[in-house]
Amino acid sequence: MQLELFITLLLVHSQVLGDSSSEEDLSKEHEDDHEKSSSHSDHWGYQDQTSWLSTFTACNGKSQSPIDIVTREVTYDPRLPAIKLDGYDLSDGPELTLQNNGHTLQLQLPNTMRIIQGFDEIYFAAQLHFHWGNTEVPGSEHTIDNIHFPAEIHVVHYNSKYSSVKEAASKPDGLAVLGAFIGIGLHENDNYEKILSVIKDVSSEASDTKIPSFNVRHLLPNSLDRFYRYTGSLTTPPCFQSVNWTVFNDTITVSRKQLAALEETLKAGHNESLSKNFRAPQQLNGRQVLASFPALQTRYGVSSETDSFSTTRVNGSQGALSRGDILAIAFGVLFVLTLLLFFLYAYQQRQKHSKSNLEARQNVIYKPANKEDV
Ligand SMILES: *[C@@H]1O[C@H](CO)[C@@H](O)[C@H](O)[C@H]1NC(C)=O
Ligand SMILES: *[C@@H]1O[C@H](CO)[C@@H](O)[C@H](O)[C@H]1NC(C)=O
Ligand SMILES: *[C@@H]1O[C@H](CO)[C@@H](O)[C@H](O)[C@H]1NC(C)=O
Ligand SMILES: *[C@@H]1O[C@H](CO)[C@@H](O)[C@H](O)[C@H]1NC(C)=O
Ligand SMILES: [Zn+2]
Repeated sequence: MQLELFITLLLVHSQVLGDSSSEEDLSKEHEDDHEKSSSHSDHWGYQDQTSWLSTFTACNGKSQSPIDIVTREVTYDPRLPAIKLDGYDLSDGPELTLQNNGHTLQLQLPNTMRIIQGFDEIYFAAQLHFHWGNTEVPGSEHTIDNIHFPAEIHVVHYNSKYSSVKEAASKPDGLAVLGAFIGIGLHENDNYEKILSVIKDVSSEASDTKIPSFNVRHLLPNSLDRFYRYTGSLTTPPCFQSVNWTVFNDTITVSRKQLAALEETLKAGHNESLSKNFRAPQQLNGRQVLASFPALQTRYGVSSETDSFSTTRVNGSQGALSRGDILAIAFGVLFVLTLLLFFLYAYQQRQKHSKSNLEARQNVIYKPANKEDV
């Protein structure tokens, strides 16, 4: 796979969700009071993830996130409804708050941003954040066939039937997180630059800054049609199993330099670099991973054409034609047309031939009149 070209961003945050906002508010209030903020019981880090298990019991659950997505084992579900977003274009809106909360880089989002189709209820946006590694280690949380992407974005939404993300965070149907992988591309990503150009302003833990609003849709991949869906959890303590996960198959790219800014700028605690903020993949424990697209049908390469050919053969009557079928039909039509043209040509040649034979004979008989006929 062209790993180089594809980088991932996924976001999972428990902390960000409910408790995070309260935790962050608290730490801000006590900024000057080191004793109080460090006595927080929910201090946790990425170095020792097994220590989460004793402090946060939900982290021991059977439906934890992230997971490794095994592309050959996902179940294609053609009935998965397409995702429709609304209100994501915030250009001309008020400024947005970007913060370093000690665990991630997070952008607060207004609840006018919504998922209006794709789930049983409407889900309001709350925040988005990132997970990354460092220059040696790719840091997406979800993996595809055991491969990490360089980074992952998570856009966290909460069920509109709850009054806040904090209330929703512990409910089984509370959250819907959209995740996408961020890879390295040749060009600078102008949309990511809206965040990354000011990342220096939030290099220290618990700092924040304001950035001009923009169209948040452009932080997600071009295509939202192809995605994986499974039931999981926050990927940070308290690990509540309240997330209906969507992980997109299409990916985002940023430049090497932009990725480096994400990996190298932020600090946590006392001048430690904030990097490798991803949780290890968790056991599936029998959970099903659905896909909104047939596994064998890919956009890349010639061999996949043959694959999609055979997939649609099986289910041909069910839906639209695959690219393979369209190609086959096009070639068939071309072939028949060529045959027709050939016969037409052959027929004309014969006509001509017999005509000139006739003429030849006529020449003999009516030689004087011939020139005027032609
Ligand atoms: C996740 O969303 C899908 C689509 O609406 C729904 O069928 C499924 O029940 C949801 N899962 C959970 C755990 O809420
Ligand atoms: C996208 O789907 C194709 C087909 O299953 C797979 O080969 C590829 O690894 C997937 N990529 C991601 C990022 O999901
Ligand atoms: C923070 O760490 C960097 C290197 O990691 C060092 O150059 C810098 O002096 C440190 N700053 C403080 C305030 O300790
Ligand atoms: C064909 O489509 C149906 C529903 O549309 C699905 O249940 C079935 O698994 C599909 N078969 C194959 C081989 O993809
Ligand atoms: Zn996250």
